[in-house]
Amino acid sequence: MAGIINQQTHFALGVCYYPEHWPTDRWHAYAQQMYDLGLTYVRIAEFAWSRIEPREGVFTWDWLDQAIETLAGAGLKVVLCTPTAAPPAWLARVHPEILSVDIEGRRRDHGGRRHYDFSSQVYREHSRRITRAIAGRYGTHPAVVGWQTDNELSEHQSYSAAALLAFREWLGEQYADIERLNDAWGTVFWSQEYGSFDEITFPNLVVEAPNPSQQLDFIRFSSEQLVRFQEEQVAILRECSPGRWVTHNFMRLQPDFDHYRAAQCLDFVSWDNYPTGGVELSDLSDDEKRRWARTGHPDLIAINHDLYRGLLNGLPFWIMEQQCGQINWGNTNPLPAYGAVALWTAQAWAHGANVVSYFRWRASTMAQELMHSGLLRHDETLDRGGEEVTALDLAHLPNDPISTPVVLLHDYESLWAHDLQPHNEPASYWRQFLLFYRALRSLGIDVDIRHPDSDLSAYRLIVAPALQVMPASRAAHLAGYANSAKLIFGPRTAYRTRSGRVHEDGQPGPLRNLTGYTLLNFDGIPESTTVAIRGYRAKTWAESYRPTTGKATHWYTDGPLAGSAAVIQNGNVTSVGAWSEPLITDLLQAALTRLGIFSQRLPEGVRVSRRGRYEVWTNFTQQPVDVGGLRLEPVAYLIRER
Ligand code: GAL
Repeated sequence: MAGIINQQTHFALGVCYYPEHWPTDRWHAYAQQMYDLGLTYVRIAEFAWSRIEPREGVFTWDWLDQAIETLAGAGLKVVLCTPTAAPPAWLARVHPEILSVDIEGRRRDHGGRRHYDFSSQVYREHSRRITRAIAGRYGTHPAVVGWQTDNELSEHQSYSAAALLAFREWLGEQYADIERLNDAWGTVFWSQEYGSFDEITFPNLVVEAPNPSQQLDFIRFSSEQLVRFQEEQVAILRECSPGRWVTHNFMRLQPDFDHYRAAQCLDFVSWDNYPTGGVELSDLSDDEKRRWARTGHPDLIAINHDLYRGLLNGLPFWIMEQQCGQINWGNTNPLPAYGAVALWTAQAWAHGANVVSYFRWRASTMAQELMHSGLLRHDETLDRGGEEVTALDLAHLPNDPISTPVVLLHDYESLWAHDLQPHNEPASYWRQFLLFYRALRSLGIDVDIRHPDSDLSAYRLIVAPALQVMPASRAAHLAGYANSAKLIFGPRTAYRTRSGRVHEDGQPGPLRNLTGYTLLNFDGIPESTTVAIRGYRAKTWAESYRPTTGKATHWYTDGPLAGSAAVIQNGNVTSVGAWSEPLITDLLQAALTRLGIFSQRLPEGVRVSRRGRYEVWTNFTQQPVDVGGLRLEPVAYLIRER
C-alpha cells in the first residue's frame, strides 16, 4: 500500500476547491489558473452530498461529472471525498435518529456539519450507501487518484439511545463478567456497583464527578465507533476504486480518539494545518500568543507533522488543508505575516509532507466561512497567500523519508487518563509533552513520535514525556531497550493500570525495576509560584522520588518537597519529576552528548529540520537572525544541502 503514495516522488502542491459554490462558466478558467499556479492536486466534494443526492435515491451526477472533466482537462489530479461529514436535510428529517446527542442530552440538528451519530445503524447504512454510489461512479476515472474519507473526524461522542446500546454491548465484549467491570472501574467507591451491563449509563449528567475509569472506557468505545465508521468506508473505496489511495484529514492535536487505530486502514495520513488558529487555541501565555499571532509557533505546528508522520511508522503524509491567509474560527483571526504561507509550506516538507494542499481556492462569498481567506480573494484577484504560492520553487525537493535517532513516545490512552484528572488544571498532557518536544527542537534535534508499544529498535534516545498508562506488558517492552538506548521518563510516568486505577504497589508500578525509584509525593504547584531545584525552578508540577536501585542527581531545595529527589538516574534510564524546561533541556542535551548526537542551542523561533540530503532552516520571528554561519530573513526559510 505504501507504494501508492511513493508515486509522488517529489514535493507537490494542491488546493481544496468547491465547484458547487461557483457558476459553471468559471470552472474552465479556474482549472487553467490552478494548473498555471503550479498546483497538481485538487480536492473536491467533501460537503457536496445535498448536490449529489438532493432526495433519497435521486442522484444528480452531471455537475460533478463536468467538474471532474474540467479539472482533468486542465491536467489536474482529483482527490475525491466521501461527503458524509455533512448529511443532507432530508436525511435528518426522514431519520432524525441519525442526529447525535450532546453531553447535556440534547439532540443536535441540521444546519452546521458533523451532526451525525456514529452509533446510528441508519446513518452507517447511509454512509456505506453514498460511499458506494460515489466510488462506483468515479472509482476508476483516470483523473481520480485518491480518496479522502469524510472530513476531520470528530464530534463522535454521542449520548444517544443507539450509542447507549452499543456502549453496553462493547463493555460486555471487553469484560464478559460484570464483576470484572466493577473491579476495573472501582465501583465500590460511592456505591456505584453494577449488577448487570444493562444498569450502566453514560458518564454524563451525574452529580459531582463521573467515575474516571468509566469515562476512559466511554472515550475508548467512542473512539472505536469512529474507527469502525472509517473502516467501513475504506473497505468500499478499496473495492470500487482499485489502485487509488485512501487518506483522511486529521485535525491538529485532536485528543478525543485513538489516531493510531483510525490510521491503520489508510494508505497514508493527512492533516489540516492552521498555524494562527493553533496559537489562538493553545496554552501559550498571552505574551507568547501576541508574539506568534501572525506566524504560528514553529513547535506547535511541527509537533503535528511529527505526530502524524508517526501514525504509520514514519510514512510521509499530506497537508490536505493548509492555511493560506486569515482564518475565521479563532478569536481574533489576524492576517498572517508576509512570507508565512511559504514558510509553513517549506516547514511541512521538511517534516515529511509529500504534498501541501491549500485551503481554499477562492474565498467563499456566502455562509459560515465568508470571512475566511482563499488563494483568490472574493473578487477573484490573487490574494497575498496566492502570490506566495505563485513564487514557490520547491518542486525539485525529493520526498525522501526522515530518519532520526531520537523518539518521543505518545499514546492516546495516557492522554485521556492524564486529562481526565489533570489534578492541576494547567498541567495538561499536551503541555507536558510539549515541554520535552520544544526542548529537543530547541536543541536542533529531529524528532520522531511513536506509540510506546511499537518497535523502537531504531532509536538511541527514547523519551517518554507523559506515559501514564503502564500495563506490565508495556513495561517489559520498554525494559527491552535499556541496553541499546538511553531512556528518559517525565512526570506521572506509569501512574495507572489500563483501566485507570493506580497500581497496588504505587508508582511507577511495573516500571519500578527499570527506573529505580518509587514515587513519594506529587505537588500541583499553584499558578505564579515555583519550587526550586538547585539552579532551576519548576512550575505547575513537581514530584519527588525515593531512590531504590537508582541514584538521585537533583533535589528540591525549597517548598514542601525540599530535600527529596527530583531526578533519578538508573543506569541508562533518567526520570525527571519537575516541570522545568531548562532542567529538561539540560538533561536531554547531556544524554545527547553522551550518545555522540550533535545538538546546538537555537534562538527562539528558529528551527532546523533534515530530510534526505537537505537541511531546512526556518525563522518564525519577525527579525533577521544570524545562526550557524547563516543569515535567516524574517518569516523565511533557507534550504541547503547538508
Ligand atoms: C477546517 C475544515 C474546513 C474549513 C476550514 C476553515 O477545519 O476541514 O472545511 O472549515 O477548517 O479553516
